[in-house]
Parts: sequence; structure tokens; C-alpha cells
Amino acid sequence: MASTNNEDLFKNIISHAKEYGFIFQSSEIYDGLSAVYDYGQNGAELKKNIRDYWWKAMVQMNENIVGIDASIFMHPTTWKASGHVDAFNDPLVDNKDSKKRYRADVLIEEHVAKIEGKINKEVEKARTRFADGFNEYTFRTTNARVLENQKKIDDINLRFKAALEANDLVEVRQIIIDLEIVCPISGTRNWTDVRQFNLMFSTQVGSVSEESSTIYLRPETAQGIFVNFLNVQKTGRMKIPFGIAQTGKAFRNEIVARQFIFRMREFEQMEMQYFIKPGTEMEWYKYWKETRMKWHRSLGFPESKHRFHDHLKLAHYANAACDIEFEFPFGFKELEGIHSRTDFDLGNHEKFSGKKLQYFDPELDQSYVPYVLETSIGLDRMFLAILSQAYAEEKLEDGSERVVLRIPFFLAPVKCAILPLVKKDGLPEKAREIMNRLRFDHLCQYEEKDSIGKRYRRQDAIGTPFCITIDHQTLEDNTVTIRHRDSMLQERININEIEKILGEKVSMRNALMQISE
Ligand code: GAP
Repeated sequence: MASTNNEDLFKNIISHAKEYGFIFQSSEIYDGLSAVYDYGQNGAELKKNIRDYWWKAMVQMNENIVGIDASIFMHPTTWKASGHVDAFNDPLVDNKDSKKRYRADVLIEEHVAKIEGKINKEVEKARTRFADGFNEYTFRTTNARVLENQKKIDDINLRFKAALEANDLVEVRQIIIDLEIVCPISGTRNWTDVRQFNLMFSTQVGSVSEESSTIYLRPETAQGIFVNFLNVQKTGRMKIPFGIAQTGKAFRNEIVARQFIFRMREFEQMEMQYFIKPGTEMEWYKYWKETRMKWHRSLGFPESKHRFHDHLKLAHYANAACDIEFEFPFGFKELEGIHSRTDFDLGNHEKFSGKKLQYFDPELDQSYVPYVLETSIGLDRMFLAILSQAYAEEKLEDGSERVVLRIPFFLAPVKCAILPLVKKDGLPEKAREIMNRLRFDHLCQYEEKDSIGKRYRRQDAIGTPFCITIDHQTLEDNTVTIRHRDSMLQERININEIEKILGEKVSMRNALMQISE
């Protein structure tokens, strides 16, 4: 069914993801497990391609960044040193009538987003009214209603920031009461106290209960990098500044798990820790903000889909932090974090392990604990960003409709479909010949069932950039039809040109060149 609003659109994206083998609910036959998802045949490919793009942009394109693969389980003291045992908490509040549990910070942020929505509506109204003469900056800085609403936002943010910094949960609750925030289910303001809840999952290692000890499933991959800092620096003869990159699973006992794969209990991170000289962190913070935004923009989405958002409350390890936010169908939300983590982690691991984690700087002729600049992005969130941006419902000139995933070509799960027009007359054999040439470089799909139109639609729905159709003319003159996903245009080309065209069009090279300019 065609989407009429963003809520419908999001629902349609979720069912499309299931119908076409991108994402399934985990253990669905047992009615699923909340906030845990599995990637299907097309989802796994798309996810792998996004991960590869990130890895190549980080590791292959930067001589001073190397990649590692650390374990999920780590010595339990790691999490004491990192601060996660004591401070990795979410402030939670329950509504006594609906018995539903919420993150107090999310309730307040959503209230602020509503006021922002009002401002944006005013701006859009004025844009229509004044047409070409409209100056958005002047309007936002002079219109009385906009200014009044902006002041409300600033006041809330200021008060909320102070409450979080002072860890004053009574004040956080009072803000919710004062803003008259109601539970979306019961519609009442009957809130419990706000409590802190630690997000780490724990389990036991050791076979005999007396011998076993509690360990945690890592809530971030970053700590695997910190504890290996010296191993990599020494064995790789790395000189500061240098980076260590890693992708892998992380686990958080998210209480308010919503919005499909946006907030999961088991998810994948792509993180890079950049080790730098103390005092240079603001310079590198700026550099990595720009570099990471370039990576996002290289996917060709409209610029308006991304924005920076400075953190109101800094995490326990950071002295500067911001998010790159993406406009999902449910609004602008965090996609990636860029954090200046100072020497917090390495310094604490030194303290807790009793081992020196220092770098000898030959230029300064002295040793120091490096500072760290981190970029951290959720692979699943990036997947959702791409899926929601790529998904399009189109009405065609002939009155029919199609759903197409306009995934950047180099990330598409299947790069090319090979379609014999009919299942006889030697066409399947010719098609297999082409398939056998292409499969060394690209994931291709061979399909001979159903009409050619239906097969095109199925490929559009999974985002395949090119379809190659083999017909009777192919046997005569060695030409095929190549159909382009986005324009649906078809051209006749020689079979020998296919590899060259695909090689150029679906290569990651163009995107990598764009970010290295
Ligand atoms: N090492 C720093 C760190 O973990 P974070 O802001 O907590 O920072 C980084 O997480 C990124 O991981 C987020 O920007 C988001 O993309 C992703 N992420 C965090 N929690 C997530 C969850 N529950 N489900 C999916 N992705 C998540």
C-alpha cells in the first residue's frame, strides 16, 4: 500500500525489508525476541558491503590506520576501568497507570523535538507566503513565535543539562512533570521516580559455580582497541598520530527498544580510535567531524539529510562530543558519534592493570599517555539510514507502480541480474555463459521464472542496479539488453562490454576517490 505519511512509510519499509529477505525478527517461529533481528540473504550482503566501505575508507585509504578484531569477552576489570560498571546507565521512569517504562532523557528530547517541529512549520509557512523574497535566517532570528519557541527549547536544554551533570534524578523527574509530558499509552502524568539502570549484559565463565566469575558482553568495541594499543603500536611500529579500527558486535540491555533496527540489544559497531598528542585533540576533533561527514555525503543522499548535533551531556570519558544525525522516517536521530575521549581510557587501564600504556615520542624525546579521538558508528543504524533513503514507491507513466531501492550501486546486495527471455531455444545456456564470466567479480542472480516485467520488478525491489536480458537476437549478433534500475532505460550492448560497464559502475572506487579528494 502506498505511504501517505512518514509513519506509513516506515511501516512499509519494515515489511519490505522482511518480504525481500533483508531483515527478519530473531527467532520468529517463537514469536521473536524483542529488539533482536536477523539479516536475511539480501540484508547480509548489504550489511557486508557497508562494512567493507567503512573499512576501506578507514584502513585501506589511510596509511596510518590499521584494523584489528578483538574478542567480545574481555577481562571484567576492563569494564571497571572504562567506567561502564559505574556509569553506563540510562535514567528510566515508569508510568504507574500503563506500567510502561521510558527513558527519561528520551521523553524530554521528544518534547523538545515537538517544539522544533512547530518552529519548522512556521518556517515552511513563511517560505510559501514570501516565496523568492524569503530569507530563512532573518525569519528565524526575528519572528516572535519562532523566538519564543526557541527560548523554550534553550531553557529546557539548559535545565536538563544541569540536572544530568549533577546526576540529579529528582530534578529530571521534575522537568518531566513541569513540561506536562504524558505517557503516550495511558495519557496520564502519573510517573514513578527516575532511576539509573546499567545497560551491560553479564554472564558467567568457568564450568564449576564456585570457580566461575562474572564477565560482561562488551557494550562497545572500543575497549578491545584500548587494551591492544601497545601491542599494535609496537608490532606495527606505529607513530602518533595513528588509528586502530575495528568492526564487531556490541550488546546493550536497552530497556526502551523501539524503531526496528535503530535501537537493538545486539548490534554491530564500526569504531576507530585515533591516538594523538595531548593538546591536539580539538584540531583532530574538527578533522574527523569533517572526514566522517564526507563519508556519509559520498553516498549521494541530499545534504539536508545529515546534521551535526553537539552532546548536551558529555559521556563520562569525553571532553567534546557530537553526533552526526540522519533524518530517519521518524525524525533526525543519532547515526554516528565523534568523541574526544582524552586519556581517560588508556589512563584508567594503566591504573587498573598496573601496566604502562605510554608512547615514546621521538620528536619530543618523552613518553606520554596519548589522547584519543574516536569515531563510532552503528552498522545497523547505517543500514537503516540507507534502506530508508533508498526506498521509493513510484507511479509509472503506464499507471503501474513499483517499489525500488535506490541503493548506491556499489552497496547493492546483487549487482546484476541475468535474465534469459524464455526458458528454451538455447537462451538459458547463453545466459549461464554470461553469468559464469561475471560471477568472479560480482554477486549476480540468475532468474528465468515469470515474465520479464515481473523479474525486473523483483530486482528493483532489492536494488539491483543492472538487469541483462538475453533474447533470440543475442544468439545472432552477440548483443544483450542492459536495463538501468533508476531510469528503467534499456540499451542494446555487445556481450563483451558488460564486464567493463559493470566494473566501472558498481565499483567502490568512485566513492573512495570522492572522500579522498
Ligand atoms: N564507543 C563509543 C560508543 O559506543 P555510542 O554513542 O554509545 O558510543 C556509538 O554508540 C554508535 O553505536 C551510535 O552512534 C549508534 O549508531 C550505535 N548504537 C549505539 N547503541 C545502539 C543500539 N542499541 N542499537 C543499534 N545501534 C546502536
